[in-house]
Amino acid sequence: TGGGLVDAYGRTATDLRVSLTDRCNLRCTYCMPAEGLDWLPKPELLTDDEIVRLVRIAVRQLGVTEVRFTGGEPLLRRGFVGIVERVAALEPRPKMSVTTNGLALTKLAAPLKAAGLDRVNVSLDTLDPARFKELTRRDRLRDVLDGMAAAADAGLTPVKVNAVLMRGVNDDEAPALLSWCLERGYELRFIEQMPLDAQHGWDRSLMVTADEILAALSAAFRLTPEGDEARGSAPAERWLVDGGPGSFGVIGTVTRPFCGACDRTRLTADGQIRNCLFAREESDLRTALRGGASDDEIADRWRAAMATKKAGAGIDDPTFLQPARPMSAIGG
Ligand code: GTP
Ligand code: 5AD
Ligand code: SF4
Repeated sequence: TGGGLVDAYGRTATDLRVSLTDRCNLRCTYCMPAEGLDWLPKPELLTDDEIVRLVRIAVRQLGVTEVRFTGGEPLLRRGFVGIVERVAALEPRPKMSVTTNGLALTKLAAPLKAAGLDRVNVSLDTLDPARFKELTRRDRLRDVLDGMAAAADAGLTPVKVNAVLMRGVNDDEAPALLSWCLERGYELRFIEQMPLDAQHGWDRSLMVTADEILAALSAAFRLTPEGDEARGSAPAERWLVDGGPGSFGVIGTVTRPFCGACDRTRLTADGQIRNCLFAREESDLRTALRGGASDDEIADRWRAAMATKKAGAGIDDPTFLQPARPMSAIGG
């Protein structure tokens, strides 16, 4: 006991992803069905106090230095600004970011910055309002774009943009998305679609691969790879555009896995530790927490949960099975 979150392959998790809710106010077709999902019952959700306590244990006893809030849509969580404020007061203070669909940023960007949030990642798969409506089943493109501008104005920078391309849906938009982001100083990342949707409808042949994205962009821009030193443990591999300083990234989980450098640990909204995005097992901290476990006991359980982390996601294994929880309940 004692020490950080180390696994059997020698990786140390210093980056904590905290899912604050499994709910969302969009219905992206690659994520969930139109009618939504069976949301987690309220009593099973960690309270704000419980979340702050677990983050405190992570930064004080387990060596976590970065905290990312995810969802579902994390800005739907009522106490979010308060949680950020309390985490910002911890010693040592972790870096803090959020991954959001951007809808609530016009309202929340300034208060979140004031509370101590460092930066935001916003999902944006298309710049076409009709396509956006088809893809997310809501007519809210304007709000997302305004939200991104509000985040940049508030200094929640760098603003990163996440785009999932799908064959026959928006795979013609890579150059347009990149130009648009470069003009505004946003850092675009293309994400290979992963087998994590609630409908279990992922199909490798519909996934737009990293190679395809690079081919499409090479026709419009001169790309230079950024190199491995700069990447560290980041999921995104990056390229400079036309000699820089603009750049973009590709998160190639399926065709270019990066599990060897993984530094992540995950906490679900109902208090389960996941040692991998694709893990099939979770470790229940909520029951321990509510049963009166001490900080040391919780830290030990967390270490034990990470010790059994697998070498990789295993998407290409013949025995691969999607995790029971969908992306929206894991936090990506
Ligand atoms: P920063 O680069 O630090 O801003 O974070 P990020 O890109 O890791 O976070 P974000 O929440 O924006 O995630 C972007 C995409 O990367 C999402 O599709 C995530 O599911 C995916 N992702 C994040 N972490 C991991 C990981 O550990 N493994 C895999 N395979 N994908 C991840
Ligand atoms: N595969 C890849 N990316 C996904 N996202 C949601 N579901 C998937 C999936 N199955 C993206 C969202 C968001 C980020 C957190 O993950 O679009 O940008
Ligand atoms: Fe880490 Fe699992 Fe993601 Fe690989 S798939 S990078 S091991 S969380």
